[in-house]
Amino acid sequence: MKKKSKLQIISQANVSFDSAGVVTLLLKDHRAMRELMEKIDSPRATQRAIFAAYAKLEKLVHSHMKAEEESLLHRLKDHKLFEDKAKEGIEEHRVHELIMAHVHRVKDPERRAIHMHIFCEVLEHHLKEEETKLFPRVQKNIALTTRKKIGKIFAKKRSSGPKP
Ligand SMILES: [Fe+2]
Ligand SMILES: [Fe+2]
Repeated sequence: MKKKSKLQIISQANVSFDSAGVVTLLLKDHRAMRELMEKIDSPRATQRAIFAAYAKLEKLVHSHMKAEEESLLHRLKDHKLFEDKAKEGIEEHRVHELIMAHVHRVKDPERRAIHMHIFCEVLEHHLKEEETKLFPRVQKNIALTTRKKIGKIFAKKRSSGPKP
């Protein structure tokens, strides 16, 4: 069994959606994304189940990326401590958008499903990058009161999208 990182453990804490620090809320979304990715990558999944899970994942990713950028990444990108990972994260979001737009253009359903799997690989890489490089830096260097304030902004921006 894979060893869980400290951050993943925090993500399982049962916290209310609007009073937690931003990292806790972000991790809650990441967990929801992974649940959907597991459905997409399951060897037992039918094509119908894959497409249904992907449709949910796509909505969640759009909503999460937008709120993550507007609440956190744009605040961090001009700070020398966070600049590299914040800018990289924003650019990876743009790549996600390109792949998601491309998936819809693949007409053959079998090939479309393959592109969905590829998207999951790219997304998993991004989530891991945030969880191992960016979030620990945020936890270490930004006070909890500030993380909670940013968390409130994130929750507000995420409120129109699917719940984790
Ligand atoms: Fe994220
Ligand atoms: Fe992200």
